[in-house]
Amino acid sequence: MSVGVPVRLRGERTSRTRAAMGGEMPTTGPLVDSFGRIHTDVRISVTDRCNLRCVYCMPEEGMTFLPGDELLRADELVRFAEVVRGLGITSVRITGGEPLVRRGVVDLVARLARVGFEDLALTTNGTALAPVAARLAEAGLHRVNVSCDSLRPERFGQIRRRGDLARVLASMDAAEAAGLSPLKVNVVLVAGVNDDEVLDFAAFARDTGRVVRFIEYMPLDADASWRREQVVPASDVLALVADRWPLDAVAVPDGDPAPATRYRFADGRGEIGVVASVTQPFCGTCNRLRLTAEGSVRNCLFSDDELNVRHVLARGGGDAEIEMLVRRAVWAKRAGHGMDDPGFLRPRRSMSMIGG
Ligand code: 5AD
Ligand code: SF4
Repeated sequence: MSVGVPVRLRGERTSRTRAAMGGEMPTTGPLVDSFGRIHTDVRISVTDRCNLRCVYCMPEEGMTFLPGDELLRADELVRFAEVVRGLGITSVRITGGEPLVRRGVVDLVARLARVGFEDLALTTNGTALAPVAARLAEAGLHRVNVSCDSLRPERFGQIRRRGDLARVLASMDAAEAAGLSPLKVNVVLVAGVNDDEVLDFAAFARDTGRVVRFIEYMPLDADASWRREQVVPASDVLALVADRWPLDAVAVPDGDPAPATRYRFADGRGEIGVVASVTQPFCGTCNRLRLTAEGSVRNCLFSDDELNVRHVLARGGGDAEIEMLVRRAVWAKRAGHGMDDPGFLRPRRSMSMIGG
């Protein structure tokens, strides 16, 4: 296949050694791990519940959810946000499950916005977005990422098992009308399921100006049915699109931590991105940590090492105590997800229990 684009996927990176950091966890300064990666981005999951059951995420039946009283309360989430902001976090993504099924989510967004982050975004399945889009924007949300894995109504229903394409498309319109832009559309590609829609999605990006991001399927499905053959490599996606519409890589500063590698259509009509978590891991520049809905600080999607901050928040522990816990969680981060290591084990939690 001819590739009309310099494929600029980020693979191997020079990984810094623990020795380079002197082996001691700093107790002041930026939030750094033992490989020298500075963390500035946090994903906050506000619920593990969802109104859909996407095949790559949840089983059709029998998913168990946290009892409501085990979720972090709004006060606790805001407190956490304030503390991590003090540690240099500048970017917050609100996730789930589906964040918009949490009661009081608009007020929560308003409170998180008041903490003052450079970038405050929310990832949603789009089913319940349209009615609250304007209120979310007023509350101070900057952007939304909407998940949408097929542009064919019937297939959309098969992948997501519930939900309706027309409604999700309408919610994208509502979000843009409310000023929640640039709007990103997350497409998880699964070989043999929706990989024949790559060009349709590229055309969609060109027609709408929305940034379509093709995401490699990761072994985070609750059914544990993921197989490597089901992964559609980002390089194949780029080659296919570039063959039809030439692409230019979007220049990013060296060491840019964003997971998506971005490309603009050479004729100026729109942009796509690829998230090559499986075939070209970007662990070397990862700057993200996660807070699960019940209050565990998690340093990687694929690591089960978690430190629970909930009890500290619940008893009103001081900032210093919360800070130290977050620092320790980040310091413990491994060099990479190790998916290709012979001893790789899937994480115990699936995507919706971690927060995307
Ligand atoms: N692999 C890749 N992406 C996934 N998502 C959910 N499960 C998986 C998986 N197994 C995506 C959702 C959403 C984001 C939060 O994570 O589609 O866009
Ligand atoms: Fe729900 Fe998102 Fe998981 Fe789909 S991927 S089931 S929308 S949490």
